[in-house]
Amino acid sequence: MGALVWILGLCCLATVVVQPGKADEHLPIVLRMQRTVVSPVDNGPMSDPTETCTDRGIACGSCTSVMFCDHNKQIVGSYECSSIDAKRPYCSGKGVCTGTMEDKCKKPSELCPTQVEAKYSFFPVPGNCSEAVYCSATKYATPTTSPSASYAFNFDNQSWSLRKTAADCFEVNCLASAAQNKVYAYKPNPRLYFYCAASGPLTYSCGENEAFNESKRACEFICRAEGKFGIPNGSGGYVENRYYSCLPGANGTVSKVFKSR
Ligand SMILES: *[C@@H]1O[C@H](CO)[C@@H](O)[C@H](O)[C@H]1NC(C)=O
Ligand SMILES: *[C@@H]1O[C@H](CO)[C@@H](O)[C@H](O)[C@H]1NC(C)=O
Ligand SMILES: *[C@@H]1O[C@H](CO)[C@@H](O)[C@H](O)[C@H]1NC(C)=O
Ligand SMILES: *[C@@H]1O[C@H](CO)[C@@H](O)[C@H](O)[C@H]1NC(C)=O
Ligand SMILES: *[C@@H]1O[C@H](CO)[C@@H](O)[C@H](O)[C@H]1NC(C)=O
Repeated sequence: MGALVWILGLCCLATVVVQPGKADEHLPIVLRMQRTVVSPVDNGPMSDPTETCTDRGIACGSCTSVMFCDHNKQIVGSYECSSIDAKRPYCSGKGVCTGTMEDKCKKPSELCPTQVEAKYSFFPVPGNCSEAVYCSATKYATPTTSPSASYAFNFDNQSWSLRKTAADCFEVNCLASAAQNKVYAYKPNPRLYFYCAASGPLTYSCGENEAFNESKRACEFICRAEGKFGIPNGSGGYVENRYYSCLPGANGTVSKVFKSR
């Protein structure tokens, strides 16, 4: 019996060892949902929506504290959940300290842009291509880390991809003083761009058929596929009687031409 277990163990170990030899080009991003103690993302609870007493008893005084209320609906005392148990720093429901933050407390992250199709749920961390954030529908960011230093975040494929050239790792250090107040296109997919504010980077996105032009500091139409495309008129509609035509070039490129109807 002992020997059988040992042999089985050896066979499985061998499988595990052989596996990485294949070096998969793209690896799926796996989210570990439990909170890490130190988050590289400026998330954290919403700047405290302070509650008022509605009944006599115990209730959440904020996203992270419990309060005691008297008959006159006055707060007579409170404590921070973290002061009781560091593993249960959030207040939820009727004043119970838990390890999970309530949705209303989740602050939207500046690394989560608006107006991007649902197929994109992972976004770059501007300062580190070995990291990415998962953006929920409420724009709450959950950080993830590359499984190894040989993989970098790939926005287009929403995966960790094997690093082959220096261009596969795009990073902007927004904290450097030279980067302050500057706007950078996200080179791997210039549909995204970053603004480096004193508070850190903010990620924005252009429309589906647009790319960010750094010198113009604006999104502009680009050809991603063959076809006819309306010219946005800047107020949600399209310019009348004119459109972009994306025509195939000699070697698989697509070029942009203005056309009138
Ligand atoms: C990028 O993130 C990885 C994983 O969190 C970390 O090991 C590495 O030191 C970071 N690199 C930089 C330049 O901060
Ligand atoms: C995404 O993955 C596909 C299939 O593996 C590959 O052909 C393509 O080049 C990748 N795109 C990028 C931008 O890495
Ligand atoms: C950005 O705009 C400038 C000025 O119009 C133009 O010369 C340049 O080609 C554009 N860059 C890209 C990447 O399209
Ligand atoms: C843009 O298009 C919309 C919808 O067709 C129209 O309502 C709006 O007046 C147009 N705006 C301009 C500036 O042409
Ligand atoms: C592809 O064609 C364009 C013009 O259509 C040219 O500017 C470019 O150099 C060509 N690229 C390659 C790799 O041949």
